[in-house]
Amino acid sequence: MKLGVVKETFPNERRVAVIPQNVANLKKLGLDVVVQSGAGLGAFISDGDYKKAGAEVVSSREEVLRNADIICYVRGPGADKNNLSDLNVIKKDATIVGMMEPLANPDIIQKVAESGVTAFAMELMPRITRAQGMDVLSSMATIAGYRAVIVAADIYSKIFPMLMTAAGTLLPAKVFIIGIGVAGLQAIAVARKIGAIVEAYDVRPEVKEQVQSLGAKFIELGLETKEASDRSGYAKAMSEEFYKKQREMMLKVIEASDVVITTASVPGKKAPVLVTEEMVKRMKSGSVVIDLAAEKGGNCELTRPGEIVDYNGVKIVGLVNAPSDIPVHASQMYSNNIKNFLQLIVKDRQLNIDTSDEIVRGTLVTQNGEIISDIVKQALAKSQGRF
Ligand code: NAI
Repeated sequence: MKLGVVKETFPNERRVAVIPQNVANLKKLGLDVVVQSGAGLGAFISDGDYKKAGAEVVSSREEVLRNADIICYVRGPGADKNNLSDLNVIKKDATIVGMMEPLANPDIIQKVAESGVTAFAMELMPRITRAQGMDVLSSMATIAGYRAVIVAADIYSKIFPMLMTAAGTLLPAKVFIIGIGVAGLQAIAVARKIGAIVEAYDVRPEVKEQVQSLGAKFIELGLETKEASDRSGYAKAMSEEFYKKQREMMLKVIEASDVVITTASVPGKKAPVLVTEEMVKRMKSGSVVIDLAAEKGGNCELTRPGEIVDYNGVKIVGLVNAPSDIPVHASQMYSNNIKNFLQLIVKDRQLNIDTSDEIVRGTLVTQNGEIISDIVKQALAKSQGRF
């Protein structure tokens, strides 16, 4: 079987789905790896590196797509409209694996289904212990959380750690992090490491202990509730009244913070607005807001995705595709996740799509010309106004 790796087409995307270090693992599974020339350049991987690892490098994208039995993407044809035409070239009985934003773009998943290919959307990986090594959302959120703090430290008008020098005492930065999932936890750890005083908030009360174990203070607003998350541990959408109360109660903390990092999101929904223009008005000039939810509509009212907005001296950074800014480690983690997943669905040199396995069932979105996943079907029906 041939496994194809193509160059990502999404603007400014620097990650690659499979790195040379994983080629040997894939060969062991019976997969011959074929890479489009230049696929790794964004992550500083040359064609020569792939060849040295035992992969074949071909110059034409079409050649990879036409011959491969499995194609690995970072952003599959479902997520990036630039490469939707790949579906015209890929073999009907091929399998594609990648991130496809299936809940945000179910109409594109419908097109993937119509092309006949079998598709796995890595974002739908169930949050179970066995799947941790395949969980691309956690991997990418880890990188994004780190990146958020580094960007904040770069833009902030002061330094982060407390310094007592002959030229006077410099007070430490106060960082407030909202949304303590994987990215938020990583952001706490990095901000603490570089000496900030860190406070954090999440609607899910169970994160309090994790926040404290990283040396940060968990802010209690009295709103946190077990009702805030679903069975899989994700936050649920709350009412507008809830968010209004939350904003009112967070105002004092935000006002006193030098850096606010927001990561709050609800799967398949627009991100809740938690930092309003009024709140930014109360922040000190020279402060920074980093909005990691920028691509999902933003947690800050003033966020513009991909831009830095200057509001009375407060910089609001709409961070987009943060993992791609750290392409080497992001590709390494992503590629390991993909390799682990392929080890599950390739057995005895054959594809083995066993839907009795929770991981396979959870991530399989299209097969035999149809959308298989119930949640994607529901998202499609909703987007078409059918309920
Ligand atoms: P996410 O990226 O979906 O959301 C980020 C955070 O925002 C979440 O913690 C969420 O509760 C929070 N949030 C949503 N609305 C909010 C609001 N109004 N105010 C404040 N915070 C708000 O989350 P992520 O990183 O995907 O993690 C979700 C959960 O899944 C966590 O409990 C995480 O530990 C768990 N998880 C479990 C895994 C496993 O068991 N294999 C792997 C990865 C994550």
